[in-house]
Amino acid sequence: MDWSVWRLRSLLVACLLLAGCQKSQSLPEQGTYAQQLYVERCGSCHRPYSPRSMTAAMWEMQMEVMRTRIVQAGESPLTPEQNRIILDYLRRNAGRQ
Ligand code: HEC
Repeated sequence: MDWSVWRLRSLLVACLLLAGCQKSQSLPEQGTYAQQLYVERCGSCHRPYSPRSMTAAMWEMQMEVMRTRIVQAGESPLTPEQNRIILDYLRRNAGRQ
């Protein structure tokens, strides 16, 4: 087998493995309203990021940016209630540093 094909194949396997890990790394508070709302509102344009990947302060800033992105994309804006539930969810499960 040609080396370039071999390299391509190992790359493919690595991608598949990574994708598998991503899926099994589930979000906290599975099955709760907050978790479902988070996936619904924050997982349509990109995958719902793990709350642990950012600190509470970073999430507060990110939520502001994303509220603008959602409106710009013509999706229905987050209600104050949804905003609070999602931000509380992210804060509760945020990373420490
Ligand atoms: C309308 C589409 C859309 C929705 C819905 C959306 N985002 Fe995003 N998000 C984006 C885009 C586009 C980016 C790329 C960075 C940018 O444009 O600011 C992004 C980037 C991000 C990033 C990565 C920032 C980085 O520096 O890597 C995070 C975290 C994030 N969004 C969180 C959220 C959260 C939390 C919600 C739910 C409130 C949400 N997103 C909903 C469009 C969206």
